[in-house]
Amino acid sequence: MSGLVIYNSKYGSTKEYAVELAKKMKWEALSYKNVNAGKFNETKEIVLASSVRMGKMKITGWAKNKADLLKDKCKAVIAVGGTESGKQDYYVEIVEKNLPFLNLKKDQIYGLGGRQIISEMKGFDAFVFKMLDKMMKDDDERKKEILQEVDHMDMKLLDPIVTYLKNS
Ligand SMILES: Cc1cc2nc3c(=O)[nH]c(=O)nc-3n(C[C@H](O)[C@H](O)[C@H](O)COP(=O)(O)O)c2cc1C
Repeated sequence: MSGLVIYNSKYGSTKEYAVELAKKMKWEALSYKNVNAGKFNETKEIVLASSVRMGKMKITGWAKNKADLLKDKCKAVIAVGGTESGKQDYYVEIVEKNLPFLNLKKDQIYGLGGRQIISEMKGFDAFVFKMLDKMMKDDDERKKEILQEVDHMDMKLLDPIVTYLKNS
């Protein structure tokens, strides 16, 4: 196995994209929690996939710790959010802000729309969304954007990433 998709996913959207990308590449997909030093050594190419929460990528802390190991092997980064995939500028800005130490070029960054099912949220997440609902005015356009239930999952969005990885 020469390639690895390392993911951080809470509700499953990022994991689904990671597993499907690994399948298409004949790579392996692993949660960041299960990646040890041995795995890094036997892996030539890495893709990082992380969900976005309040503008932050969930994998940032872990990736920062492993920056030296990731620098040469990280071929692409995938950010998954409730924001639709058409808004690539939004995702590129988030990845560049969160992972500046990877020195990524724009063509290595991919934003993919995930699922945001508010009724399934638990604990702190449910609390945050309830608070936002209370705090924002009903006619606020941002409120509609942030608090809507979305399912942007589309495995076809992985095709350009596969093409990029195969040609790079
Ligand atoms: C507390 C919270 C904050 C979020 N903040 C953002 C955000 O800043 N931008 C965004 O595009 N999506 C945001 N989302 C939506 C998630 O990124 C989206 O549901 C994504 O599919 C979750 O990935 P996962 O299923 O792999 O956990 C947020 C979700 C939660 C629960």
